Amino acid sequence: MIDTSVRITEGLSLKNPVLSASGTFAYGEEFSEVFDLSILGGIVTKGLSLVPKEGNPTPRVYETACGLINAIGLENVGVDAFIAEKLPFLKKFNTPVIVNFFGTTDEEYESMAGRLDIEGVSAIEMNVSCPNVSKGGLEFGKYPDILERLVSKVRKATKKSLIVKLSPMVTDIGAMALAAQEGGADALTCSNTIPAMAIDEQTWRPILGNITGGLSGPAIKPVALKIVWEVSRKVRIPIIASGGACTWQDIVQFLLAGASAVEVGSASLRDPFCFSSIIQGVETYLEEKGLSSLHDLVGQLKTS
Ligand SMILES: Cc1cc2nc3c(=O)[nH]c(=O)nc-3n(C[C@H](O)[C@H](O)[C@H](O)COP(=O)(O)O)c2cc1C
Repeated sequence: MIDTSVRITEGLSLKNPVLSASGTFAYGEEFSEVFDLSILGGIVTKGLSLVPKEGNPTPRVYETACGLINAIGLENVGVDAFIAEKLPFLKKFNTPVIVNFFGTTDEEYESMAGRLDIEGVSAIEMNVSCPNVSKGGLEFGKYPDILERLVSKVRKATKKSLIVKLSPMVTDIGAMALAAQEGGADALTCSNTIPAMAIDEQTWRPILGNITGGLSGPAIKPVALKIVWEVSRKVRIPIIASGGACTWQDIVQFLLAGASAVEVGSASLRDPFCFSSIIQGVETYLEEKGLSSLHDLVGQLKTS
């Protein structure tokens, strides 16, 4: 028997290491028409805020040579509508629901964490790539002291497993990871999109309505891989990888680099069926390598 399960925290165990990613899976409804969501290691929802958000002007996405630039602008239904209308649907599946959320002040983050401390939510994933309005727009996720203070406040507001999703756009990702850990994070997601833009040479105008956006997909996988490896050598808490995973080989590579699980985002927009072949591929790989569990892979990168 091959054991593909992985325990991220005391309250969060996954049957396999493959999760959906925030913002590329909405609230699961559309994907549930294409496959049984119960096959997933976990479902990560679209990022939620206290009040509904309309998002940015269109166009909001642009496909690059090997990636996707998005400037959705965190459009979401708001936490109340999520709890009333989306969570009951997600609870029907036999897989943990991880709710991604964000705020623009410490108080909003705390309030969101408190609201999501309810049955049916297995863990919460904090997106810290947002400007802090009280601090003149400085991003929460860019300064270790600001991040540690925010995480420690959120920690006190919830009994759920707390996952902090780091931004890759920092000078020292290890310092940010340590700050989140010291603040009380149970796990980290490494990491979010990379700022990018696209220009139309005919009109001389930016392609995205927001001018700039965030790059995801295969283009950023090598960056995410390096971040996971670097962070895994700094912290004792588990890491969930995010950035460009498309195939089972990518999952294995992220596990070797030190991740315990991997979110698949942009790849599922291109191929909504990709999850089952990725999950199956990881299982077959373990079998062929004669490994009995995922733990035989996590962090096993050979560097000497
Ligand atoms: C269209 C789109 C919307 C996204 N929305 C969110 C979001 O609401 N919250 C968040 O933390 N990350 C969001 N992300 C980032 C993804 O969750 C993921 O971290 C990133 O895309 C890298 O993974 P990938 O290359 O597998 O897509 C979004 C990404 C895309 C492409």
